[in-house]
Formats: sequence, structure tokens, C-alpha cells
Amino acid sequence: MKITVFGIGYVGLVQAAVMAEVGHDVVCVDVDQGKVDRLKEGHIPIYEPGLTPLVKSNYEAGRVDFTTDAASGIEHGEVIFIAVGTPPDEDGSADLKYVLAVAETIATHMQSHKIIINKSTVPVGTADKVSAKVADTLTKSGKSLTYDVVSNPEFLKEGAAVNDCMRPDRIILGTDSESAEKKLRELYSPFNRNHDKIIVMDIRSAELTKYAANCMLATKISFMNEMSNLAEVFGADIENVRRGIGSDPRIGYQFIYPGCGYGGSCFPKDVQALARSASQAGYTAQILESVEEVNYKQKEKLFSYISRHFSGDLKGKTVALWGLSFKPNTDDMRESSSRVLMEALWEAGASVKAYDPEAMEETQRIYGSRDDLSLMGTKEAALEGADFLVICTEWQAFRAPDFDLIKQKLNYPLLFDGRNLFEPKLMMEYGLHYYAIGRGLSV
Ligand code: UGA
Repeated sequence: MKITVFGIGYVGLVQAAVMAEVGHDVVCVDVDQGKVDRLKEGHIPIYEPGLTPLVKSNYEAGRVDFTTDAASGIEHGEVIFIAVGTPPDEDGSADLKYVLAVAETIATHMQSHKIIINKSTVPVGTADKVSAKVADTLTKSGKSLTYDVVSNPEFLKEGAAVNDCMRPDRIILGTDSESAEKKLRELYSPFNRNHDKIIVMDIRSAELTKYAANCMLATKISFMNEMSNLAEVFGADIENVRRGIGSDPRIGYQFIYPGCGYGGSCFPKDVQALARSASQAGYTAQILESVEEVNYKQKEKLFSYISRHFSGDLKGKTVALWGLSFKPNTDDMRESSSRVLMEALWEAGASVKAYDPEAMEETQRIYGSRDDLSLMGTKEAALEGADFLVICTEWQAFRAPDFDLIKQKLNYPLLFDGRNLFEPKLMMEYGLHYYAIGRGLSV
């Protein structure tokens, strides 16, 4: 099937690659000529396990191509995905200018019926706006053509994106058109094995489903973070509580890990966007506002432990920091807790020696060169001359470190763990003063 994808970001590129892999004929359109050129040379703009060989082999086989030429892209695809960004504007609402610009471009160049798919995470009602924009542009250019607009949200996770796209839990199709449904069932049939994963519904419900899924997961995390604060207040251990409640299948073990807050490009943005669009519609989404507030405070948690330990005097301290990305297996630093921590440490006069397996370049890009940030080549090098160690991201490489070495290198035998990787008792045996989230400290 001939498919066009607008926006070679995370979602667009992974989606395009897996569709090409199963034999579809895919063209990706982006406004960034540099990105298009680099992709053609085999340089993949993001770190995502398995993506580079997938893109390269499909490009070489001629099943996926990259271009800035919107007109030829639109001529190519009978199905056109919109997968451009929806960044938050000043008040946290999703900004639709890129989505609507693509809708206008499609209408400007289309010469036959098109199925237009909203793949980006967009507020409820966006399909109507896309539809109106297409209709308006067609009228202005004197064309009388038919089209369908479908909501087909993406549920991939960074770090596991290729697998999530290849083996989706569900494929949500929000459509009022039988012919579009039929076409998309055919498009997705290679991914719809074992049992029927396609769930067809009205467009607005599909749009809300995407937000509801992310907001539910973010709620689980903020709920657990709130429980971890209560565990500290009451002298309980949140890890015992987590095991105790996760064993109830109605609650489950997933997404109940307490920590130094959730980050990434999705949860923070989507919780905010749904809360803002609720309030614009005259409804106060109390749970969502609390989820956001709890997470905001949770990101300050590590700094508050550190500051309290040193009675607020961090001037001149050197901090070893392991983990910069918002979660393992990605170089993405968006809304990462490590940023909140580093910025607070700098503000307090401390300097940071940081190590991350993938996010060093990205950190350099964001913060540039500064005297109070050293990016180190290994996790051990980050310990050299540091006063204490902080862990922000649970990379596998941090799960079994040499604790004797840590103790020996640090000026204080002190470890702040934002991801609860170790047993407090074991840390005590190694002679390390150990702070974790919700594990027997008093707030
Ligand atoms: C999230 C969703 O999990 C995907 O289903 C969704 O498609 C995606 O957003 C999206 O909308 O594009 P992602 O942001 O890649 O995926 O990352 P997650 O694995 O969900 O983790 C998000 C954050 O929550 C991370 O900072 C992680 O450390 C934190 N987290 C996760 C916790 O603090 N505790 C947990 O138990 C789980």
C-alpha cells in the first residue's frame, strides 16, 4: 500500500520503518532538509534500539524514502499520516499549528481521494479542525475532492518503540467511514495477528483514548509517589507496599514504581494538555491537576534530601550524577528529573560530574559548556573527586556497581537513589549512607 508520513520525529520515523518492513511503500516528508539528507546517508536522528538497521535496510530496499517535497509525498500516498509535533504552548495546551499546516498542505496538493490519519497526540476535536481546514483549502482552490480524517493514536514507548509498533497491544481506529476502516484494516493486517487488536470507535473517543491511557499511567506513578511520601511520614517502606499492592491483579505491578518523578515527551505534556482542554471546556480535572502537581514536587525530592543532609550548604560541593535521560534506553532528556536536580544544584553553588550511557551529547546540546558541569566517559570517572553520588535513571549498567569502589572514591560515603535500585540493608553493610524514595526516611 502507498503510504505517506508527514513528520520524521519519533512516532513518524518508527511508524514509517515498521510499515516499510512489512512491505508497504512509504514516503516520509519533513521540512528539515538536513534531517532528510542525514537519513538518506543512514544517520538516524534518535537513539532507539533496533531502529537504525530497520531504517537503513528498508531505505536500501527502496521501501521507504525521505523528502522535503510535500507535493510528491501527497501524490504518492493513498493514506497520509500526520505525525508532526504538538508542543505545549504557554498555558500547556497542545499547539496544533504544525498539524493544521500539514492539513492545509495536503489539501493544497491532493488530486484524488485521501485518507488522512492523525497519528500525533492531539486534543479531542482536532480531527474536526483538520477536516475543516482541508475542506476550506479545497474550496478556496476550487477543487471538489473527497477525503476521510481518521484518529489513529500511537502507543509506543521510547526505548521499546520498534517492538511496540511491530506488536501493538491495540490499534485504535476512530472513524465514521466504512471505506477508511476497510483500508486501514488492510494496512494494519500484518500487525494484527493472533487475535483482533483493532478497536473501531467514533473519532472523539479515539482522541480521548490516547490521553486517557497516558493520564491513567501518570496517575498510577503520581499515586505511588504520594504513597512513598506517606511511607516516609509513617516510617513504612514503599517497596514493601509496592509488592503488597501489585500482587492484586486489579492493581498490577506495572507503573507503580516510585521514583524521582516521571519525565519524557508524553506524560508531562499530555496530563497538562488534557487538564487545560478540560478547563477550557469549563471542567476542572482535579485528579489530573493533582497528578501534575505531585510530579512537579517529586522532581524536587532528590534535591530536598541532599539539601537537608548538608543543612542547605552545597556551595563548592561536587556531585557525581549517574543517569541523565528521562528513562533508560533513550537519549531523550525532555522533562527529565536529572535536569531539575542539576539546575537546583547549580543554583545552590554545587558542580556536577555526570555520566549517562546515551544522553551525553544531548546534555551537551542543552547546557553547552559550563564550568559547573563535566560530562565523564564512564560511571567510575564521574566518582573521581566527587563528594557524593546521585542516581536519576535506572540504566541496567547502574544496577550492580562496585560499592566498595563507590565508597572509596567519594569524599562522603553517601548515595542518593532516585530509582530505588538497592536494598537499604545491603548499602548499610557496604558502609554507605543511603537515601532512596520512600524507604524509611522522615520527611
Ligand atoms: C509513554 C507511554 O508509556 C506510552 O504508552 C505512550 O505511547 C507514550 O508515552 C506516548 O504517548 O508517546 P514513554 O514516555 O516513552 O511512553 O515512557 P514510559 O516508559 O511510559 O515512562 C515515562 C516516565 O514514567 C519515565 O520518566 C519513567 O521513569 C516514569 N515511570 C514509569 C515511573 O516513574 N514509574 C513507573 O512505574 C513507570
